[in-house]
Amino acid sequence: MNILLIHGPNLHLLGRRQPEIYGSQTLADIDQHLMEVATQRHVTLKTFQSNHEGEIVTIIGQHIDWADGILINPAAYTHTSVAIRDALATIGLPVIELHLSNVHGRESFRHHSYIAPIATGTIAGFGAFSYDLAIEAMIQHLNITQT
Ligand code: DQA
Repeated sequence: MNILLIHGPNLHLLGRRQPEIYGSQTLADIDQHLMEVATQRHVTLKTFQSNHEGEIVTIIGQHIDWADGILINPAAYTHTSVAIRDALATIGLPVIELHLSNVHGRESFRHHSYIAPIATGTIAGFGAFSYDLAIEAMIQHLNITQT
């Protein structure tokens, strides 16, 4: 089982970026922990971060034949990107949208997601643990749909 994890813009600054909202863990901490979880659960995980919308679109397309599922924290592109939504819809794989913060309890511009309607599901508000929940949800989903 191959899972691709994509982190969107500004998430490379986790740990230093508004820790009262996003927590104190760095992106490297989160990726390393998720890699350990993936090993324990016998799945292959690749992680990728970009601040560039087009680069994220390219990475999604490049994994059409590799990935069984995609976990994505699209960050600010959640609220703006038709291109990322179209890329995810094009490859037609299960997608879990995730957020560290509870976007629905924040500014109104964060309440709308272009990704949510084409996602299998959304997880938000559990800090770095949102990533644990997302990988577990994807493994369960793939186990059900692939057997
Ligand atoms: C975020 C929420 C987005 O609204 C914001 O633009 C981010 C991070 C989150 O993980 O809580 O960059 O996706």
